[in-house]
Amino acid sequence: MQQNISDSILYIGADDKDLDLFEGQYLVPEGVTYNSYVIIDEKIAVMDSVDDRKIDVWFEQLQAALAGRKPDYLVITHMEPDHSSGIEKIMKAYPETKIVGNAKTFTIMKQLFEVDNIDDCSYVVKEGDELSLGEHKLTFVMAPMVHWPEVMVAYESTSKTLFSADGFGKFGASDAPGGWACEARRYYYNIVGKYGANVQALLKKLDGIEVSTIAPLHGPILREDIGYYVKMYDLWSRYQAEEDSILITYASIHGNTAKVAHELQVILKAKGKENVELCDLTRDDMAQAVEDAFYSESLVLAAASYDAGLFPPMEHYLHHLKSKNFQNRKVGIIENGSWAPSAARTMKGMLETMKGITVLEPTVTIRSSYKSTDVAALEALADALIAK
Ligand code: FEO
Repeated sequence: MQQNISDSILYIGADDKDLDLFEGQYLVPEGVTYNSYVIIDEKIAVMDSVDDRKIDVWFEQLQAALAGRKPDYLVITHMEPDHSSGIEKIMKAYPETKIVGNAKTFTIMKQLFEVDNIDDCSYVVKEGDELSLGEHKLTFVMAPMVHWPEVMVAYESTSKTLFSADGFGKFGASDAPGGWACEARRYYYNIVGKYGANVQALLKKLDGIEVSTIAPLHGPILREDIGYYVKMYDLWSRYQAEEDSILITYASIHGNTAKVAHELQVILKAKGKENVELCDLTRDDMAQAVEDAFYSESLVLAAASYDAGLFPPMEHYLHHLKSKNFQNRKVGIIENGSWAPSAARTMKGMLETMKGITVLEPTVTIRSSYKSTDVAALEALADALIAK
């Protein structure tokens, strides 16, 4: 369980350690948190709610935090169901509570919930509006597409807290091992990665605002070295590599393409290149493979030909990269084909739809298995990857 932000800004979120897939596709072996907060002042504001899976524990904590009082406002920074399941619960338990959102918030709310009186209890805010709770004051900053169109963030000026919606969130329950960056990066590229320009726009709007605490909807409350988290979001949203490293991904049917990928790693290391990682697309976590591609300076795609096209695990991977706006990288290509190699042609066609991708020469074609006659071509590709 997380700590409160202050004596008057209380944490009422929940850990979810039994979830098999977040958003129906992302592995979360260390669970996830759904964060929600209550600001206690002359007026009381509840900041978002949680997923329906944890609605009862959330409501119990809310009632304890209220200590017999009633919430004046429920602020909705993001309508996605992992945060909005408490809306109907609040409307039933506390019908006088005003639901605070922007115009788009209420459009989506009416799509998600079949309730009659949303218009009666809605409190519509727009860019720069301030909501005074007494000592605490919330200013709303629109953040469309970080990660849905209705997303906004709220800055509380007394405590200098930024309620950042999905931004700066991470996978992992509150007691998950490891630091912030790895699972925050996997979260960022897979959840928000497509919308780098929108993240950049939000960072510009927040520039100059003094923030001492970031309170996201997932992951830990961030209190120290705020500049570090902002710097990482700036880097990630500009699609820049984080390390001068090479990621070799492979999709192999019988192990022969995998062998070439491993051999390329050996050659690169023999030539003095550190930081060369391998990823088996038939077995490894797809979301991690996407994260690692963005993290690395260069990418190698090694795949078998299949049905006059591309072995599906590699096709899925490239589809994921395209959908997350993968761009501005050097890419090496290795194909395997036993009678009519078609993988390289298909991979190049998919890469052509991505921005700023440079395919390195030579393309390496293996016929069935890696042999001594293939060494020169693989050495040449290694040289091209190192020279960049
Ligand atoms: Fe955590 Fe976009 O919802």
